Amino acid sequence: MQADPEAAGVTIRPLTPAVGAEIAGVDLADLTDRQFAVITEAFDRHAGLLFRDQALTPDDLVAFSRRWGELDVAPVMENGRTAVPDYPEIYIVSNVKDADGKPIGSLGAGEAVWHTDMSYLPSPPYASLLYAIEVPPSGGDTSLCGMKAAYDSLPPELRERIAGLEIKHDGTYNSGGYLRAGVTASDDPMHSVGQAHPAVCRHPATGDALLYLGRRRNAYVVGLGLEESERLLDQLWDYAVRPAHTYRHRWRVGDVLLWDNRATMHRRDPFDATARRLMQRTQIKGRSRPRAAVDAGAS
Ligand code: OGA
Ligand code: MN
Repeated sequence: MQADPEAAGVTIRPLTPAVGAEIAGVDLADLTDRQFAVITEAFDRHAGLLFRDQALTPDDLVAFSRRWGELDVAPVMENGRTAVPDYPEIYIVSNVKDADGKPIGSLGAGEAVWHTDMSYLPSPPYASLLYAIEVPPSGGDTSLCGMKAAYDSLPPELRERIAGLEIKHDGTYNSGGYLRAGVTASDDPMHSVGQAHPAVCRHPATGDALLYLGRRRNAYVVGLGLEESERLLDQLWDYAVRPAHTYRHRWRVGDVLLWDNRATMHRRDPFDATARRLMQRTQIKGRSRPRAAVDAGAS
């Protein structure tokens, strides 16, 4: 299908040069194929899409998410429960507590550090979507980091240094610092559970080289001594999350933020624990393992 924004009545406004675009003129509960074609093209180009003023039932949210591919069943939450009854694909990200004082969702009210979702798996999710149902009066912003811009910012000698290297992505802790279900606590980057992926990946749709870091805690550059690995990772992170590569999103109720989990990292600011923040999340399954950009060093 031809992706012609004007004919589809869709406008695309980049949020920053490095990452993100706001899409206007669409109702995600009632989307035409022509509009969807425009959106998918914008997704590959901008790696993060914002849709304002949406009103989605759980069925709408799941139906829109499914247009992108098969969905993951939501992981078990920090409270040991699965998320929404009858909607196994919807995960709740929230600090709100139920009548027994138990959180109804995950990630609490603290900071969620920079990360790519579930990159400790062999084939991490392709995309993640957050839908804002309740937002705190301040704090709790979500930022995206564009990993093409991050890669492009590396000095040539650092690119050469990491070409062909793999980074082990830790599976012990989630981005809020909570221990994942069924995993033994560990602060040993060399031996903690996880999955190695190329440090520089090729975007399957755009062909761009992307820095692929996952998260900092317990990360390990395969084959190096621990000290050398730590030094190299610190150097990479220092470039990666510079403000020029990021977009910070101040939430409004009804916002949908969809990110390309292959080409971005994200983080969340802490917020007042007595305020309420309630998001629904879906994740689209990965279609392939992250692939190395083999000639990435030859710039
Ligand atoms: C997530 C996540 C951050 C946020 O759901 O994967 O990192 O802003 N959420 O809630
Ligand atoms: Mn996340």
